[in-house]
Amino acid sequence: MLEIPLRDFLLHSLSLSFPHPVSGERLAQEAGVSRVAVWKEAQALRAKGFPIQASRAGYRLLSLPDRLEGAFLQALLRDTFPGLRVVFFPELSSTNSYVKELASRGEKEGTVILTENQTQGRGRRGRTWFSQPGKALTFSFLLRPSLSLRLSPLVGLLVALVLAQALEELGFSPYLKWPNDLWIGERKVAGILLESSAEMEEVEWIVVGVGVNVNMTSHDFPEELRSRVTSLAMEKGETIPRWQILRTFFSRFAREYPRFLKEKSFAPWREAFEERSLLAGRRVRVHWEGGEKRGMAVGIDEEGALWIQGEDGEKERIQWGEVSLDPLVN
Ligand code: BTN
Repeated sequence: MLEIPLRDFLLHSLSLSFPHPVSGERLAQEAGVSRVAVWKEAQALRAKGFPIQASRAGYRLLSLPDRLEGAFLQALLRDTFPGLRVVFFPELSSTNSYVKELASRGEKEGTVILTENQTQGRGRRGRTWFSQPGKALTFSFLLRPSLSLRLSPLVGLLVALVLAQALEELGFSPYLKWPNDLWIGERKVAGILLESSAEMEEVEWIVVGVGVNVNMTSHDFPEELRSRVTSLAMEKGETIPRWQILRTFFSRFAREYPRFLKEKSFAPWREAFEERSLLAGRRVRVHWEGGEKRGMAVGIDEEGALWIQGEDGEKERIQWGEVSLDPLVN
């Protein structure tokens, strides 16, 4: 007996064998159902937007559509991050909140939660995160590193860098705005929200939430955001399937993350981050509750802190705070 719904089994099998067909007989046998049952599910999947062709040779996917179904992504993301388990919900208030809940109940590292419609997306510093159903990528995943809490923000820098490199592999040229925003040109294209829990200064879990503006047009964004945001499709002039971003990102992250846990420092990635820095050499304004500082962004150090140089020539190390390009001079 199948332990997963027949539809998921079929989708997973066809995605794994893409672009080759799988015989109806084999599918029916493996699932322990009739060939008619397989045919019915194939019809249902076709109606959901999966281009399934039935021929004498069996069933096959003609292309990989821009869909986020768990069984589909689970097949496409295999061989990326060890222990990756993809679960998709058509609607969720916030993927970060959901994964936090799972984490506190003992969920294992590698669980990825995706949604098509995030109704209460959260950004950094209590802001809301806008995403357009069907066009955005909103997902969160769970990590359980053996790491001291002090170093946990470095995971955010690493995720931002890896996401930038993944987008480069797909033909984009993003900049990194410290600590973990991605911009293209002068507009934000992706954001990362890290939430963690620790015991005795040792990380228990980290939830990494990623939001990417993938296929939105300018009109999809609320008016008040339009001048400050962009999407990959707006930059490229064509849409891009979201699974491509996920696959490229997780393949890279699976390589860099174990290395980071060994190094326990950002030193090996500092230069790569700097090369893509939006802020380096520019006048910035850093503000935090109760204060602000203006100066020139000089760079980041091996612990991931930002250094800025004030008018007086004094350099200051910034660990927290909201950084913006100084509107007086930029
Ligand atoms: C920011 O730039 O302020 C961070 C934005 C993070 C948004 C993502 S979307 C998926 C995940 N779930 C959330 O509620 N937020 C993060």
